[in-house]
Amino acid sequence: KRHLISAADLTRDDAVLILDTAEEMARVADRPIKKLPTLRGRTVVNLFFEDSTRTRISFEAAAKRLSADVINFSAKGSSVSKGESLKDTALTLEAMGADAVVIRHGASGAPYRLATSGWIDGAVVNAGDGTHEHPTQALLDAFTMRRRLVGPDAGLGKDLEGRRITIVGDILHSRVARSNVHLLNTLGAHVTLVAPPTLVPVGVERWPCDISYSLDDVLPDSDAVMMLRVQRERMNAAYFPTEREYSRRYGLDGERMAKMPEHAVVMHPGPMVRGMEITAEVADSDRCTVVEQVANGVSIRMAVLYLLLGGYESAAPSTPAART
Ligand code: CP
Repeated sequence: KRHLISAADLTRDDAVLILDTAEEMARVADRPIKKLPTLRGRTVVNLFFEDSTRTRISFEAAAKRLSADVINFSAKGSSVSKGESLKDTALTLEAMGADAVVIRHGASGAPYRLATSGWIDGAVVNAGDGTHEHPTQALLDAFTMRRRLVGPDAGLGKDLEGRRITIVGDILHSRVARSNVHLLNTLGAHVTLVAPPTLVPVGVERWPCDISYSLDDVLPDSDAVMMLRVQRERMNAAYFPTEREYSRRYGLDGERMAKMPEHAVVMHPGPMVRGMEITAEVADSDRCTVVEQVANGVSIRMAVLYLLLGGYESAAPSTPAART
């Protein structure tokens, strides 16, 4: 059975297949009728134990565009608040015939546990687990970079070989950073992490990337700069420089953005804290891809659901859209 738990599990061929399939899926969004019949009769469950705006909505949109039935489960307002376990929640979903379970959970490893437990038969997709991984976010980020940096011919195997990507901020708590480091390395890009020393994970020197403590030093050599939210909900005050100090050293404002090469883009997975890691001037500029990232997330999640549930064997990149 196939699952998507970690970007580290993807080979280059896997990653390129997902990105190229997402290019085909993106064409569906440009049509008057934005739907494919591919997953008719299949059921996708969105199982969210942590809050989400973008990921939950885009998995729902992706499943619906592929004609799947969608069940949305959110821990708030469910029997989880009465003490029901992940196992019993999973068994309940299995009884409802889930073909795929998209899970977000505060505990690192919860999607892996679900995929290997035998509690459910369907494919498991990690929609963010604790501080571990967020693989579809990394895929949509790579898709966005490929489109912006490689140009209109992006796709069909054209990847990010040799591009220089800088990821800035709360690396310690960021599942987005972890998944991006793995995937971008697999795609041949060069990643530099920039963070305050207190927000760098132990063992980062073993990650396939460089580390810097000076944003100003790395900006002139960056093709893309990905700003991260400071995840205060996962830290205590002792970790954290003052907001003013953080913005001064690690925030991206117009003056800093001007140090980036002309072609370079600014990214953010959202949600953004405007005024702290990114100013409104930068967030609203043409160089910032935040809104594109959200739109591209639907195409990526369509590709992932399609490849896991429907079409891997016959997934020549032109197949999904050509079949309609
Ligand atoms: N980027 C991201 O995962 O956003 P949400 O938490 O809103 O899903």
